Amino acid sequence: MGYPKIRIDKAKYRQNIRKMKNLLAPANLSMMAVTKVYCAEAPLIEILNEEHIEFLADSRLDNLKTIETDAFKVLLRLPSKSSIEETVRHSDISLNSEWTIIQKLNEAAEKMNKTHKIILMVDIGDLREGVYYSDDFEPLVQSIEALPHIELFGLGTNVTCYGGVLPTSETIGKLNGVVKKVERILGRKIEMVSGGNSSHIPFLSETISPINNLRIGEALVLGRETSYGTTLEGFFDDVFILEAEIIELKEKPSYPEGEIGMNAFGKKPFFKDEGQRKRAIIALGKQDVDHNEIMPCDSSLHPIGSSSDHIIVDVTDAQKQYEVGDILTFKLTYSSILSLMTSPYVGKVYE
Ligand SMILES: Cc1ncc(COP(=O)(O)O)c(C=O)c1O
Repeated sequence: MGYPKIRIDKAKYRQNIRKMKNLLAPANLSMMAVTKVYCAEAPLIEILNEEHIEFLADSRLDNLKTIETDAFKVLLRLPSKSSIEETVRHSDISLNSEWTIIQKLNEAAEKMNKTHKIILMVDIGDLREGVYYSDDFEPLVQSIEALPHIELFGLGTNVTCYGGVLPTSETIGKLNGVVKKVERILGRKIEMVSGGNSSHIPFLSETISPINNLRIGEALVLGRETSYGTTLEGFFDDVFILEAEIIELKEKPSYPEGEIGMNAFGKKPFFKDEGQRKRAIIALGKQDVDHNEIMPCDSSLHPIGSSSDHIIVDVTDAQKQYEVGDILTFKLTYSSILSLMTSPYVGKVYE
């Protein structure tokens, strides 16, 4: 296989999963492992199965369809009206906030002679999905409870996403208030309270019952929490490493010569004149990844720009004498793993 490619270290992913289980267990939290960032590729799903993760969660039905597991499959994004039957067929549990959709899920589940579990999402201020926490839950909860093929399995919330709101005890307290109200309406305990994502990790000591589950994506692949972006002790941040090949290596001026109009993407570019610089072009571009989201393992290198198929890397300060055909390696961010794993032009190598 040629380049570019992503090398994926299965042992490091397994280690991150084990470490995360050890972090969550003392707080009595189960884990949904979020698989969308690597398009639910089978070699990593296999590791989740071997590590006995109970819930595998993905935002895309196309990914859930391919997952082979005995674990519960969870649809992380609210189901769309156009994919109700597929939702019931390919997920055991889905996150929901719309009555019309829940009704349709009930009809589809009835046709398939199934019960579909739902987690009702509660918006506690981050302003992405969910019924706003201060709304009246009673009519909705009673209506859901009356549906014979829907089980109100849990309540969930998502923070540090759209609004960047942190899961402090004050914010999470809003979810806990809703849990109490809903349990009073139902007259029973709710089975799952899914209290958030990788941003929750710095707040584990403040996490009080009834939260009993977190949905974890980034911390498993990058070994970091997402409230402040700190690396978690004992976790690996290099499960995924990008390799790309140098196809041109030349010294050129840093400031373009000639009158400047728009670049290939319709934007007027800005340049600082830093004199002559040595630059490598690697065979990878915006179609695969944003050059600002890849970090050279040789820290003297700097990706400075890109077009669809070319990323320009400043190599002037490098100790190593790079040559055309050399391979540059990069650590990644969540968004670059997401786009590179989604690109059919990037090879995936599991080791
Ligand atoms: C609803 C939901 N829960 C959890 C996650 C996982 O978030 P993180 O990667 O920060 O752990 C995501 C995003 O992938 C999500 O959309």
